[in-house]
Amino acid sequence: MAGKKRGMRRGLTAYGDEEFSLFLRKAFIKAMGYTDDALERPIIGITNTYSGFNACHRTVPELIEAVKRGVMLAGGLPVEFPTITLHESFAYPTSMFLRNLMAIDTEEMIRAQPLDSVVLIGGCDKTVPALLMGAASANVPAIMLVTGPMLTGDHQGERLGACTDCRRYWARFRAGEIDAREINAVNAKLAPTAGTCMVMGTASTMACVTEALGMMLPGGACTPAVMSERMRSAEATGARAVAIAKAGLTPGKIMTPDAFENALTMLLAIGGSTNAIVHLAAMAGRLGIEIDLDAFDRMGDETPVLVDLKPTGQHYMEDLEKAGGVVTILRELRPLLKTKALTITGKTLGQNIDAAPPGWQQDVVRPFRNPIFKNGGIAVLRGNLAPGGAIVKQAAATPKLMQHAGRAVVFDSLEDLAARIDSPDLDVTPDDILVLRNAGPKGAPGMPEAGYIPIPKKLAQKGVKDMVRISDARMSGTAFGSIVLHITPEAAIGGPLALVKSGDRIKLDVAKRRLELLVPAAELAARRKQWKAPKMRAGDERGYRKLFLDTVQQADRGCDFEFLTRPVTARAPAK
Ligand code: FES
Repeated sequence: MAGKKRGMRRGLTAYGDEEFSLFLRKAFIKAMGYTDDALERPIIGITNTYSGFNACHRTVPELIEAVKRGVMLAGGLPVEFPTITLHESFAYPTSMFLRNLMAIDTEEMIRAQPLDSVVLIGGCDKTVPALLMGAASANVPAIMLVTGPMLTGDHQGERLGACTDCRRYWARFRAGEIDAREINAVNAKLAPTAGTCMVMGTASTMACVTEALGMMLPGGACTPAVMSERMRSAEATGARAVAIAKAGLTPGKIMTPDAFENALTMLLAIGGSTNAIVHLAAMAGRLGIEIDLDAFDRMGDETPVLVDLKPTGQHYMEDLEKAGGVVTILRELRPLLKTKALTITGKTLGQNIDAAPPGWQQDVVRPFRNPIFKNGGIAVLRGNLAPGGAIVKQAAATPKLMQHAGRAVVFDSLEDLAARIDSPDLDVTPDDILVLRNAGPKGAPGMPEAGYIPIPKKLAQKGVKDMVRISDARMSGTAFGSIVLHITPEAAIGGPLALVKSGDRIKLDVAKRRLELLVPAAELAARRKQWKAPKMRAGDERGYRKLFLDTVQQADRGCDFEFLTRPVTARAPAK
């Protein structure tokens, strides 16, 4: 940091007299009881993302204490500060709507305050990408610490995991297989400890890909929230934050195209949440890197799914931790990785793998040559219904439905879906394709996790478990089924999805990566002339919602705001 303004001298408040600004700043910070000696140390910010509404972040106060200990042991001065926090079930209309607000908050608070580095404490789905997006734009040395996953619950001897089993049990309740008393009993067992969802949902996925990206200490992704090792990881993160402050190790030096390629390789190998594609695109966009969806799809040809975790497999995050965590996966993936990518340790990813203890016999991470799913765990589709791309998580789908043609049953909005999906009069058969639209970035707004369209009650009660479902929405990483997501461009801006009518035929061919609306081009052109953009809703005209609607980009650009991304100068993966 020699020659650069650091600590209390960074980013002085503008009074027109820098010495006075420093004098005033010190006068006020001394009211916190600090000595001059403390104020001369590297100042390490810690984001406090605790909230009484965020159970996934229940342990943040004790993590902050452990981080502070690490910072002080390494000679720094830790200072915590609040940012917005987001929990999936406590963010109306959807947490994705607020992710960019949290990223803006994080960026501006990092920039506004005199921080030599910052520890980002996240966990619940949108918090990790929001913090990393903000830190990438502020480009102050930053290191990620996650709260860690929950331990599993149990019901009548069966292990339960949020929220894969939330959905599974709810589907059983809807189908009449279990009664109100049992579903209430299950409700109390699904989230039995502090921490994030313990299946390979979005939170677990983002934790694993962040470790592969290099922005988290090795071993930091999988340790459950309530284990003492999690506190040691926090202490080590605090100590490392002082080192990266001294070294000037900024996010831009770590979050390179190679690092994003490593993160995408990890995403494929863990059979991770499709949401991570959107978040990685947003994070990369902050640094002028574009995620190339077609190259990502080609990566899938050689990247097997190795991790046997719910929702696609059988284990949970605590089992992955016992199997050695992320490095066990990295070791198997080594031939596919960019091992020279720099990480937060100051060493390369390859050096971190070499420094880890040797692996042992376990059944959670499969050997490269004996995968769970050979390739294409997540496939990118194109076609006249999705000229900008769409995503399907094959690894979580019914194989025979991956080549399917059927009659469209269209729901025009989330409200329309809620009103009609369980109607006994709904004209639907198991071979039909359920279509939900106006649930994309602008449509809903916020691209909610509504892509997991429930099986219509009248079919669920006959035992139908899966159907092809397509939408411009996202899906929770904890969900599963034959579900096409992120159809781009979305219906609300006139994407072809807006032109589908109930009764049209749609063809899905995942092997050929195609999603086609089997309607003649002339008929589609006639329908386009008739199409009208959805009307403005109450609240669309002001505030953050207006900013969101005016500037949010489509899923392929990570749903980030246009004015927050940098011009594209590189692509990842570079294949
Ligand atoms: Fe927070 Fe699932 S609700 S991680």
